[in-house]
Amino acid sequence: MSFSHIKLEITDTIAVITINRPKQLNALNHATIKELDEALQSLEANATVRGILLTGSGEKAFVAGADIKELATLSPVEAKELSRYGQQVFGRLSSGKQISIALINGFALGGGLELAMACHLRIAAEHARMGQPEVNLGLVPGYGGTQRLPRLVGEGRALELLLSGEMIDARRAYEIGLVNKVVAADQLHDAGTKMLSTILDKGPLAVAYCVEAVRQGLATTLNNGLEVETSLFGMAFSTRDKQEGTHAFMEKRKPVFQGR
Ligand code: CAA
Repeated sequence: MSFSHIKLEITDTIAVITINRPKQLNALNHATIKELDEALQSLEANATVRGILLTGSGEKAFVAGADIKELATLSPVEAKELSRYGQQVFGRLSSGKQISIALINGFALGGGLELAMACHLRIAAEHARMGQPEVNLGLVPGYGGTQRLPRLVGEGRALELLLSGEMIDARRAYEIGLVNKVVAADQLHDAGTKMLSTILDKGPLAVAYCVEAVRQGLATTLNNGLEVETSLFGMAFSTRDKQEGTHAFMEKRKPVFQGR
């Protein structure tokens, strides 16, 4: 596949997607979101790729948001369509079968932070800065920010970021649980690969069930979520990976999981 605004590189089981508009600080115009959509669809159909690292081109920005020059021309109906499309594309990451980690290599603002939050996990470079500055433009986040941010950091902290439009640094983002880890910029890819490899070493079905339980649980009541957990706990007992994992423990050896 050939792309103009993103790069897609696959090595063994890991795909690296790089948003590649460095002169515009990797701002997401419609064409970029469309390419991201195509790349994610191609990965959904790829049985070999089990993890995705998502980052931005250059050293300054992960993604500085939706492309403001494009937003400026939209009608209300077009804006609603764009929001729905962006949410749908970002949803491919959060509900996809591959584990995704955002490598936040600089500014992650507006749609950029929303893209990072759609990934399962986030690692930030020390110089990264994050925020939802939409209110500075008289706008509301449209790619999931008002929903994913409070789920990650709690209502009070989310409202503080959403209403002030201010940026926070990587250390503060770590303190409030917005990112999972902060590393030196030159360590970002290694840290992402290491985190992903640790996960990919585990029982693939167990990993998928954990994601599913958390995802469904956050969308419902505690009691319903506990029911989901019970079902998935039972389902894990129908897998060969559960046999392998428990027997490997008792035989004091490393398990060899097959995702079955
Ligand atoms: N859209 C379009 N272009 C952008 C952009 C964006 N979101 N962010 C940066 N750029 C462009 C700038 O226009 C500039 O291009 P030109 O040289 O052609 O003028 C180039 O990238 C470099 O940017 P700056 O000169 O502004 O760089 P800086 O270092 O002075 O500032 C910054 C960096 C603080 C990130 C600043 O660029 C900025 O505030 N950007 C906008 C951030 C923002 O508001 N994002 C939210 C967008 S709305 C949204 O995302 C809605 C949604 O939820 C769907």
